[in-house]
Amino acid sequence: MTQTQTQLSTLYGPVADDMILVEDLLETTKQVDLAPLKRMLDFALQARGKRLRPALVLLAGCFGEYNLNKLVPLGAAIELLHTASLVHDDVVDGAESRRGRPTSNAVFDNALTVLLGDYMFANAAEMVTRTGSLRVTRLFALALMKMTSGELDQDAAAFDVGKDIHNYLGRISGKTAALFANATEGGAILGGSDEATVEALRHYGFAAGMAFQIVDDVLDYTGDEEQLGKPAGSDLREGTITLPALLFIERYPRDNPIRKFLAATTKAQREARLQEALTAIRTSDVLEDSMAMARDYVRRANAAIAHLPENEAHRCLRGIGEYILARQS
Ligand code: IPE
Ligand code: IPE
Ligand code: MG
Ligand code: MG
Repeated sequence: MTQTQTQLSTLYGPVADDMILVEDLLETTKQVDLAPLKRMLDFALQARGKRLRPALVLLAGCFGEYNLNKLVPLGAAIELLHTASLVHDDVVDGAESRRGRPTSNAVFDNALTVLLGDYMFANAAEMVTRTGSLRVTRLFALALMKMTSGELDQDAAAFDVGKDIHNYLGRISGKTAALFANATEGGAILGGSDEATVEALRHYGFAAGMAFQIVDDVLDYTGDEEQLGKPAGSDLREGTITLPALLFIERYPRDNPIRKFLAATTKAQREARLQEALTAIRTSDVLEDSMAMARDYVRRANAAIAHLPENEAHRCLRGIGEYILARQS
């Protein structure tokens, strides 16, 4: 195991050993006869991510009857949907690396990669039906609808300095927090928890997801490609105005390097102004202010579950909040 995997298995506490069952189910995705599809699935599923979302499914399940026959299919389905969304996200962003390796779109072409993502989405949908819960299956479909809407809204807002923080929060609630919420809410439902517990865990997942994406957006400015396993500094280049850039634009109305970059009309102008804009953000207090907002979301996540039993899963969920704020990759 790598150092990160060891850290994560400590973080996932009471469910760490059961995560292997999620891995086993994910492996079955690769069992297809069609050679070109198998080659792409092998490639796309080889590098592992942090597996945060399936861990959240199992941890939420700990507050009820911990039934792995239902929790594992949901955990694997959510991880597969997440991975498929990254496969498509990298096509949309034109990204060349992910999880420390070339992206599928860098190896195969965009058209094939879109089809690969479609196949993975469909397989994830098939997996979620194995939970036997129509309610969970419906929530799963709704989460994907929200994610897609969030990604489309992000595209629509690119290079637009007129979008405010409300728009940003709406975007990230769709593209990221919806799936975190789906993980904890689904795990709680499958555990047979009462509605108040389901609601509390849904709130936890949502707020944790918001914090997770804000930190991701900060890391895009502060991290480097080797550590992140994916390109850094690329959000602004793509015209994606995340929280740090948004705060900077709002705070300095005059002579603003971010505005200048976003207003560039030629490729040469854009290239020349990008570094100046990145440096301005990296040396400003907006990164710390963004982290303060992420901390506030983690505080809200913990508050949502404060009244739930003080068990090992509860301690782990609080640990995940700390991890989200401290992570470097
Ligand atoms: C990346 O998610 C996409 C975002 C929501 C920012 P993760 O950082 O959880 O990706 P992996 O699965 O660990 O690679
Ligand atoms: C998250 O957004 C992507 C999805 C939720 C599909 P990002 O575009 O910030 O994710 P990374 O940085 O590429 O992992
Ligand atoms: Mg991306
Ligand atoms: Mg990002």
